[in-house]
Amino acid sequence: MDIYPAAAEVIRDVPVDQPVLCLRPHAATRAARWFVEHFPGETLYAVKANSSPVIIDALRDAGIRHFDVASVTELRTIGALPGTTMHVMHPVKSRRFIAEAYYDFGVRTFALDSEAELEKIEDATGGAKDLTLIVRVACPSTYSEISLEGKFGAPWNEAPALIRGARQKSETLGISFHGGSQMMCAAGYGQVLRNVSQQIVRAATMVDIIDVGGGFPARYPGREPPALESYMAEIRAAFDRMAVGYSCQLWCEPGRALVAEAESVIVKVDGRRGDTLYINDGAFGTLYDAAHCKWVFPVQAYSSRGIPLDSHSLAPFGLYGPTCDSADFLPGPFMLPPGIGEGDCIEIGNIGAYGRVMAGHFNGYGYHGEAILTDEPMLSMYADEENRAVSGLR
Ligand SMILES: Cc1ncc(COP(=O)(O)O)c(C=O)c1O
Repeated sequence: MDIYPAAAEVIRDVPVDQPVLCLRPHAATRAARWFVEHFPGETLYAVKANSSPVIIDALRDAGIRHFDVASVTELRTIGALPGTTMHVMHPVKSRRFIAEAYYDFGVRTFALDSEAELEKIEDATGGAKDLTLIVRVACPSTYSEISLEGKFGAPWNEAPALIRGARQKSETLGISFHGGSQMMCAAGYGQVLRNVSQQIVRAATMVDIIDVGGGFPARYPGREPPALESYMAEIRAAFDRMAVGYSCQLWCEPGRALVAEAESVIVKVDGRRGDTLYINDGAFGTLYDAAHCKWVFPVQAYSSRGIPLDSHSLAPFGLYGPTCDSADFLPGPFMLPPGIGEGDCIEIGNIGAYGRVMAGHFNGYGYHGEAILTDEPMLSMYADEENRAVSGLR
């Protein structure tokens, strides 16, 4: 893959008739290194957020060795890499997936949220006695921008019995939850950990692992979370007060926070109607969250020759994606130069999480060029931290 110093050089070199995904592996490495150093336990990467081999390698460079795989495809992709340990944290999965994970890839960790899944795992692994079973409990998505409520998680009134049942069938027992993606406040983790502690008391069972799931935030315009240190402090304080023994491990499974900064996409403007631009990527491509969740992403406009367009006075624009579906609309508003028009390009930043992995080929779109960029992401949770470390302020 070609390496460029910044988006301008890509635009000068490559016709953006297909959108170009710009990978910043150094940003993934920096984020992962931060988690390895600051999370008071083991960090598993949730592969669903971004499965690019370049990004996965960048995370491994930073010391990430544990991966949450949620499909047979993710299992086989990560399973082909040396020195990795996989965990199946999907609470409802097929027998075939469980058996392939257990027998062919040596996976021992499986999540569940019901008696039926517990029996399925036992059956598919031939009554294995060496399992790490993780009971996923339900919790509200009170503090998150993207709710994960409803689909998974044992209800509070059923969890103690399920925890006891799983204890009998596991060598190692854990409890996990997911408070929703892009948690805007650290208090969410503390609240759920206190409730989980009550569940453990009610279950009257020893627990070996507490897994706080994903949900750690990234920076987006209008969605500026507090520093990640506050999340670590909240989790550490709540974990220390839990009804668990000294040997109990703490795990997390971030997706977004590790990779959001590691990709941007350069798109071309194919047309303009008033304050709406028609671009060549959208809701069915790498910009799912911009359309379906109405998120705003950082933008920088360029001429067709890669010259940054004057950004002194900006105007609000909505963006239409390339397909014929009216839902292919990104309301923004995206602040862009008022004179922008056909042939100009826009770099849309911080789409590394749930960007490329969401792209389909509806209407024949969804194909992207790729390039590696060595400059900084448009917004970063970690750059200040790095600067502070360099200047000895930490
Ligand atoms: C089981 C599990 N773990 C981790 C994650 C990653 O979450 P996030 O990207 O919010 O960190 C998800 C996301 O859906 C998930 O389902």
